[in-house]
Amino acid sequence: MDAQHSGPVRGPLHTPICDLLGIVHPVVLGGMGGATSPDLVAAVSNAGGLGTLGLSGRHPEAIPSLIDEIRTRTSAPFGVNFLLFLANDAGIQAALTRKPPVVAYAWAWSDQDLKPYVQRVHDVGAKVTYMVSGVPEAVRAVEAGADVIVAQGSEGGGHVGLIGTLALVPMVVSAVSPVPVLAAGGIADGRGLAAVLALGADGALLGTRFLATDEAPLPTSFKQAIVASDGHDTTLTEIPDLMNGSIWPGAFARTWRNAFLAEWSGREFELRRRRHEVVRAVAEAWAVGDAQRAPLLFGQDAGLITSILPAGEVVRRLVDEAREVIDGRLARLTHE
Ligand SMILES: Cc1cc2nc3c(=O)[nH]c(=O)nc-3n(C[C@H](O)[C@H](O)[C@H](O)COP(=O)(O)O)c2cc1C
Repeated sequence: MDAQHSGPVRGPLHTPICDLLGIVHPVVLGGMGGATSPDLVAAVSNAGGLGTLGLSGRHPEAIPSLIDEIRTRTSAPFGVNFLLFLANDAGIQAALTRKPPVVAYAWAWSDQDLKPYVQRVHDVGAKVTYMVSGVPEAVRAVEAGADVIVAQGSEGGGHVGLIGTLALVPMVVSAVSPVPVLAAGGIADGRGLAAVLALGADGALLGTRFLATDEAPLPTSFKQAIVASDGHDTTLTEIPDLMNGSIWPGAFARTWRNAFLAEWSGREFELRRRRHEVVRAVAEAWAVGDAQRAPLLFGQDAGLITSILPAGEVVRRLVDEAREVIDGRLARLTHE
C-alpha cells in the first residue's frame, strides 16, 4: 500500500501509533547514524512505514539540505534521530527549522534535562520518540513529555543495554501506559512484529533488517556479512567506542566478531594508545568495503536475514507475515 496519499490510509495491521505518527504500517526504521540516508528513509516512508534519518555527528549546516532531500522523495511522514549525550544542540535546531514530523531521541546522560529537548520539538508541531533500554529511563522520558517510547532490547544491533526485548517491552508498556511503545532489538520478520504486538507494543522499530537493503548506504560486502551471519557471531563490546574516543551513557555496542574485533579484544590498552592510527585504517577499510577490517554493528537478528531486499519490500513482508501469524497460527490456537 502506497503512503503517498493526502488523507490517512488504514493498513491491514493498524495500531494507535499509526494514527499518532500518520503512518500506514506500524513499522519504523531506526535512525542509525552513518547507516541511513534520505534514499533509505524515503523508501521506508513511501512503503507506509516511518523512515528515520540518523543525524548524530552531522554538521548542523548539512542538516537542512538532508531533510529537504527526503522531502523531494516522499510526501509521507518521516523522522530524524539525535543521540542526546552528544548534545548537538545546533544540529537539533537546524533540523527543527525544517519541521520534521518526528524527532527520535536516544541515549541522554542520566542528569540531562529532557524537558527542553521535548518542548523544542513540540513547539514546531512535531512528535517525540525516545529510545530506552530500561524502565526508569522510560518513566523519565514520559515525565518529560515524550509521545512514544522505544523499548530497545539487548539483542539489537548498535548500542544497547542489558535487558532482552522479551522482558523489557512488557515492563515498559506497563510502566508508561497509555503512552504508546515501539519495540526494538531482534526483530527482523513478521514473526517478531506479531510477537511484540502481543507484548503490548504498538509497533516495531528495526535497524539490522534495514541495513541489508538495496537503499542502505553501506558497502555491499557489509550487507552480505549480515546475510551470511547466523546471528551467533555478534558480541557486546566497547571496542568501537574506545576506537572513536566516545563514552556512551551506559551502552555496549553489539558488534560482529570479525577480524577487527579479534585483533583488538584484550588489547584495549594498545587500542587507546593507537586509536588515531586505527581510525584511519578503518576509514580505508570502509572505502574499499573490507568487512573484516572495520567494526560492523548489527544485531542477533542477522540470523533471520537471508537476502538483501528493497526497503519497501521489507516493510510489506513484515506486515504480510505478521498478519499471517496473527490470523493464521495464533487464531487457530484459540478457535480449534
Ligand atoms: C549500525 C547501527 C547504528 C545505529 N545508530 C543509532 C543511532 O544513531 N541512533 C539511535 O537511536 N539508534 C541507533 N541504532 C539502533 C537502532 O536504531 C535500533 O534500535 C536497533 O538497530 C534495533 O535492533 P535491531 O538491529 O535488532 O533491529 C543503530 C543500530 C545500528 C545497527
